[in-house]
Amino acid sequence: MNKANILVASNRGPVSFSQADDGSLSLRRGGGGLVSGLSAAAAGAGTVWVCAALSEADRLAVREAPGGRLDEAGHDTGGIAVHMIDVPEDTFHRAYNTVANSVLWFVHHLLFDTPNAPAFDAAFRADWAAYRDYNGAFADALVAESADGARVFVQDYHLTLTPRMLRDRRPDLRIAHFSHTPWAPPEYYRLLPADIGREVLTGILGADEVGFLTERWADAFLDCCAAFLDAEIDHRTRSVSFGGRVVRVGVYGLGVDGPAMQERAAAEDVAERREALRAQVGDRRLIVRVDRTELSKNIVRGLAAYREFLTDHPEWHGRVVHLAFAYPSRHDLPEYRAYTEAVRRTAEEINAEFGTEGWVPLILQVKDDYPRSLAAYQLADVLVVNPIRDGMNLVAKEGPVLSQGGCALVLSTEAGAAGELGDDALLVNPYDVSETARALHAALEQSDDERKQRTARLADAATMLPPQRWFAAQAERLG
Ligand code: F6P
Repeated sequence: MNKANILVASNRGPVSFSQADDGSLSLRRGGGGLVSGLSAAAAGAGTVWVCAALSEADRLAVREAPGGRLDEAGHDTGGIAVHMIDVPEDTFHRAYNTVANSVLWFVHHLLFDTPNAPAFDAAFRADWAAYRDYNGAFADALVAESADGARVFVQDYHLTLTPRMLRDRRPDLRIAHFSHTPWAPPEYYRLLPADIGREVLTGILGADEVGFLTERWADAFLDCCAAFLDAEIDHRTRSVSFGGRVVRVGVYGLGVDGPAMQERAAAEDVAERREALRAQVGDRRLIVRVDRTELSKNIVRGLAAYREFLTDHPEWHGRVVHLAFAYPSRHDLPEYRAYTEAVRRTAEEINAEFGTEGWVPLILQVKDDYPRSLAAYQLADVLVVNPIRDGMNLVAKEGPVLSQGGCALVLSTEAGAAGELGDDALLVNPYDVSETARALHAALEQSDDERKQRTARLADAATMLPPQRWFAAQAERLG
């Protein structure tokens, strides 16, 4: 096996499998911000992408692939060499669902006030041990695949311990870690058990370069290093001196690839969905949102704002439709299933309260349908992105790029994207339902000219650092 000079490691990889009733496996390309960003950057660059088997179908596929290499087993992985790791199911479940998604995701998105917030008990310690094993399995695969002096790009909160493990075993490697989430401020981060909070920070500091999507998240990380480690922080140069080494912290605001998106959106399946949507909503104005069914996306408050807008503005009844597209996500977790139900209930209530025979005010679709989302972006008059906290939020960037007639962006101040798009968006406090309702109204009342001019500027800002350049900038800094 040829060793690689560039490696990427992430929990979710660029491909996944599903199994049909007859037992046959079919491959599909993965989704989500991290995967779409990195897929474009890694394709054709001689990169090896190390990822986890996420399902039983993935595990079956890996077992038929020598050394875990799906490309070598004849799968079409889109020009990327993919090494999928067969982590035992129980280890994976504890590491991904319990530690990464229920604790680390929760702390960085400030979600500990939900009814199912974690309890750090003896069972959790066993989960933490599994998270270590899972990070160790990534380190093993990366050690096996890396050439001397290779550059390794470790992604996200699933893999915070891998950089330190790699450094201990392979000091020749140049290691980067990138967080696609926000980072918690110290007063929230300290809610983690103290030793685990420190282990995460020292794990990440095993890297040479640590990257974030915005200055705000980078500064919060530096503040945590100052508060919880015996480390020296320089906010001006964004660096951490710790354990005799200096680790640099950088900011890389991932954007979208405009031409690639336009090309995808020109395909027949998008045109078909666009026609179907037009036939469904007629010439009514369109408010659109596209999210994973994710607690931090704040869908329920967003729908409540639409309800308040309809209450306050009866003159808009019958003249507007809200399309809310939600991609099912993390449904192994009970709080995510409950949240999806709350979204459905709110939508039903709104339609029961305002709907008439000829008008359905809200169309909610909980389904994985990417081309339909692209068609909705093309038609939207208003795009709502109101997360309570979000690393970046690429929907806010994709919408303006694909808009055909101009779309007003209602955007949470707590999305990373607000830093780059704030000048031309209608910024809202995500907890302030009434402010969001007023913003929906203001967005619908924007003149065509103003909306189009703002959309053009939003699209420019959204495409400033497309995935290839985002990745190249980090690679360059790593040397
Ligand atoms: O860091 C955030 C992220 O990895 C995004 O890239 C992506 O949208 C989301 O989380 C995917 O989550 P999951 O892999 O659990 O579906």
